[in-house]
Amino acid sequence: MLGEHAVKTPEDLRNMPKEYQELVTHLMLVHTEGELTGADDYTQVFYNLAPNSYEKVVCCERAIEELQHYQLSSEVLAGIGVDTDYMLAQHFKERPYYANELVRGVRTWMERGFFSFLGEAVVLEHLLEFETCSYEPFSEIFVRQIIKDEHVHVAHGFRIVRDACRSPETRTEAQVALDRLWPHVLALFGRDDSHRSQQYVKWGLRKTTNGELRKEFVRKTLPKLSELGLSVPGMALAPAGVN
Ligand SMILES: [Fe+2]
Ligand SMILES: [Fe+2]
Repeated sequence: MLGEHAVKTPEDLRNMPKEYQELVTHLMLVHTEGELTGADDYTQVFYNLAPNSYEKVVCCERAIEELQHYQLSSEVLAGIGVDTDYMLAQHFKERPYYANELVRGVRTWMERGFFSFLGEAVVLEHLLEFETCSYEPFSEIFVRQIIKDEHVHVAHGFRIVRDACRSPETRTEAQVALDRLWPHVLALFGRDDSHRSQQYVKWGLRKTTNGELRKEFVRKTLPKLSELGLSVPGMALAPAGVN
């Protein structure tokens, strides 16, 4: 496996094997597009669902942060001659990546809570891997800003769901949202047998494959759901409190 921050500059990248160059470019394109789609979700979907002015303000703040993440990531791509301006003209539902119900199909404020509590948490699991990835200009943006912001995004989603779970009526609403979205949360990790995720590990762009990362996420998440009085299929296999 290629070591942490082994490839330091765009010039170093040009001297790497073509396979590495293609993989890192693909990884960065997917990430960059995801950040922009996040900004669109906050402005075009969640803003309209927000129950009060405070939550509308939060949606605007999150959109600014996601746009800043897009800019940071697109600058790294620009450094190797890849222009991502075309993404700005696309509607988020027309983009090629993240064609997932959690990202494109949130219908209620409760589902918006799960988008952040679980969906952005899945993304954060990936970003924590990018923090130490072999291409340093890319890893650096996660260390500098993105990881810190995303922890806040996930925590806000948790608060929305936690507050809902304090009364039986709204906890039922939360369970309905979770039932619909849980399969899409798991799908966000991609396929277990993804050849590309194995290649990412080989080249030090990630530490773990899709399947390993999903398994670990489920292990960490089930006790949190159980504490809120929520459940998902298969939960009995991993009771609350098991670490
Ligand atoms: Fe982001
Ligand atoms: Fe985010």
